[in-house]
Amino acid sequence: MNQAVLRDCVDLDALERNAQRVMRPESWVFCDTGADDEITAKENVAAWRKLKLRPRVLRDIVDVDTSVSLLGARVSTPIMVAPTGRHHLFHANGERETARGAAAAGALYVMSTSGATLVEDVAKESGGAPQWFQLYMQLDREATGALLDRCVKSGFKALVLTVDQPVPGWSPRAARTPVIASPDVRSVNMVGQPIARTAYDPDRKGLAMFPTNFTDLEWLVQRCAMPVVVKGVLRGDDAKRCVECGVKGIMVSNHGGRHLDTTVTTAEVISEIADAVGKSAEVYVDGGIRRGTDIVKALALGARAVLLGRPPLWGLSVAGADGVTAVMEHMYGEMVRAMQLCGANSLAALTPDLVKA
Ligand SMILES: Cc1cc2nc3c(=O)[nH]c(=O)nc-3n(C[C@H](O)[C@H](O)[C@H](O)COP(=O)(O)O)c2cc1C
Repeated sequence: MNQAVLRDCVDLDALERNAQRVMRPESWVFCDTGADDEITAKENVAAWRKLKLRPRVLRDIVDVDTSVSLLGARVSTPIMVAPTGRHHLFHANGERETARGAAAAGALYVMSTSGATLVEDVAKESGGAPQWFQLYMQLDREATGALLDRCVKSGFKALVLTVDQPVPGWSPRAARTPVIASPDVRSVNMVGQPIARTAYDPDRKGLAMFPTNFTDLEWLVQRCAMPVVVKGVLRGDDAKRCVECGVKGIMVSNHGGRHLDTTVTTAEVISEIADAVGKSAEVYVDGGIRRGTDIVKALALGARAVLLGRPPLWGLSVAGADGVTAVMEHMYGEMVRAMQLCGANSLAALTPDLVKA
């Protein structure tokens, strides 16, 4: 393990500063930015921190069990790597490096549609850890079906359909420091995708890129041999409707505040959605999770697992796979300590009463 990265991982703030130093300016902005005034991106982080814990004392906490099953796959940690695009902007090996780093930490990696690495090549780096594939659904169903078949054949265990970006959001900051067109920013798994575009490309302003609706979702659930998860849900009624369409998991997410600004934060709606879904599907959450205490709060409020978006990219840019592993292990260590300090020795012991309403 790279010692410099481990030192950076005393807290993620230090790692973030270091990542900014090593990334090209446009890659840093692409990673860091939120949409418009970047209000949601900032509030996501603040919202978890604002919630107060109500720890239990005098409990058995020496042995802590953090294992969990995610759509039938047993993993040792409830912390996943969120789908993020364009990893070649952060490391020469792109998504393969991330997959290797996640696997070394025993963490589930969700690969993004947007990237210059083939699904088959990412699957080769799974190291036995489960991997899911995140889809931006193109209206060409034949092309989408063919991609799903490749994912199944490669060994991906679930399909995550992102629904909160029917049109790209806008980032003034990214427009000022744009990612330059190059083979690094292709989406090689998308059929017919023009080369070298990122979400904040001015040519895409207002373009309905992924106008998926509930009828498309029903088709996808029927067509896909993997369980389907919907990512980008912020309302209990939408979550219920997705479950009625046959999805097995709901990812509560506002995309890290990258497309629609001034949405509710995920910390504010996780309980509503967990209550609406009940036991009919698994619920996960991402957005602004930077501390073990954030994870404990998210799980206590009803999430089965959490996802980290930007932090693994910081690790990736500073030290490749080792950096991703270091981030995941650091957050795992913080989570276990927070659980013990809250008097919880299993994920089942993380219940809503641990968080002050
Ligand atoms: C650079 C970057 C690229 C992203 N690309 C995708 C993507 O391709 N698909 C997707 O569903 N979400 C994407 N996201 C959103 C993440 O999956 C996740 O929802 C968000 O980053 C979580 O917030 P956090 O970064 O505060 O942890 C991206 C996020 C970042 C930072």
